[in-house]
Amino acid sequence: GSNSMWGGRFAEGPAAVMREINASIPFDKRLWQQDIAGSKAHVAMLGKQGIVSAEDVATISAGLDTVAAHYAEHGVAEDLVLEDIHMQTEARLADAIGPVAGRLHTARSRNDQVATDFRLWVRDAIDQALAALAGFQTALLARAEEHAASVMPGFTHLQSAQPVTLGHHLMAYHAMISRDVGRFADARARMNRSPLGSAALAGTGFPIDRAMTAVALGFDGPMTNSLDGVSDRDFAIEYLTAATQTSLHLSRLAEEFVLWASQPFGFVALSDQWSTGSSIMPQKRNPDAAELVRGHAGRILGCMTALMVTMKGLPLAYSKDMQDDKPPVFEAHDLLALSIAAMTGMVESATFRTDRMRGLAESGFATATDLADWLVREAGLPFREAHHVTGRAVKLAEERKVALDALPIDDLKAIDARIDERVYGVLSVDASVASRTSFGGTAPDNVRAAIRAARGEVA
Ligand code: ARG
Repeated sequence: GSNSMWGGRFAEGPAAVMREINASIPFDKRLWQQDIAGSKAHVAMLGKQGIVSAEDVATISAGLDTVAAHYAEHGVAEDLVLEDIHMQTEARLADAIGPVAGRLHTARSRNDQVATDFRLWVRDAIDQALAALAGFQTALLARAEEHAASVMPGFTHLQSAQPVTLGHHLMAYHAMISRDVGRFADARARMNRSPLGSAALAGTGFPIDRAMTAVALGFDGPMTNSLDGVSDRDFAIEYLTAATQTSLHLSRLAEEFVLWASQPFGFVALSDQWSTGSSIMPQKRNPDAAELVRGHAGRILGCMTALMVTMKGLPLAYSKDMQDDKPPVFEAHDLLALSIAAMTGMVESATFRTDRMRGLAESGFATATDLADWLVREAGLPFREAHHVTGRAVKLAEERKVALDALPIDDLKAIDARIDERVYGVLSVDASVASRTSFGGTAPDNVRAAIRAARGEVA
């Protein structure tokens, strides 16, 4: 038969494939709570404005509660005939309260309805991401505090460069995540305006109160243009860009965990809970979760790209392409939630092999810069000359297969007569990190100060 919503104009029902391509209920059923909340705010406003009688408003509102209770208990049926969550809910409402259900859709379109539902959903997704990131940052701070003075090799080009502390390294991720938090918070503040009352595209002739529904739904006020209200999805794109940037940060840490858990590095042992074995190789402890965090970042980026490409060519106002806005946002949300939770668990439970880190920091001539700096500071050499002298000392140490601070003073003096015994005071990895006291540097006291600042203990 023809459609129960718009059947008046149609003699025949849709082709089976038309029905299938058109239906969004398989995924937009995730909006059911937002759809009920939006409808309750809308009908209360219709009552206050005298557009629907108080009695009918009471019936519809109670009926929406009945439908919500049904969804909560049984889930939302994937009835393709009812196309989307909006038509599904209206049909269930009619089952519950009869023809008066038909008054709910006065002064409203599915276009402003879905824009409202989706904003509410994305807003909630942002709040969930912020809560999860706060937990991740707490884990980073705890491990950073524990390892504020644990020396490890710092790398450039993945070559041993200068010693840093593990605490400093973890606090670098804390700083990245703080910016991600800022991006989510900015997106939330910008998107928190209500499109409800934009109707199909042009607004409505009914005397609606858009400020009232906006406040009821926790928005800061109504959006100012009805065409914009129903047709932009920039809020979802901003959410996806923030999610993508966050996942890129998580992916870099995940990559480091993969590298650090490998036998040649041996910097970290993942706990049993965060390792997997092999079906054939009994010795294996694989960092699958870290690898999947790295992999998920690519998928989240794909979600962002998908929605951007969907939107780039659409004329105003609504086109059905926009129904495809939801799957990438839902997918990105699910992948990000798993990624944050997994990285938090790995950071919390990892055993850092500080002996191994220190050993590698000591073996890579990582304090060569300290020797060069000492020659500048104590012997007055220009840095370029100090660099050259130090290079000869490194070459000699390399030939003898010893660390820099194991070269006898006579050999150092033979390279440059201005070197004296005091130089040994700067050649250890501990002296090196302790000397990096510039703001933002790796000195353990700086790291501890950064941790206190991050916890809001100092201004
Ligand atoms: N299911 C639709 C979506 O998600 C709701 C809006 C439908 N509006 C329309 N004019 N067909 O975009």
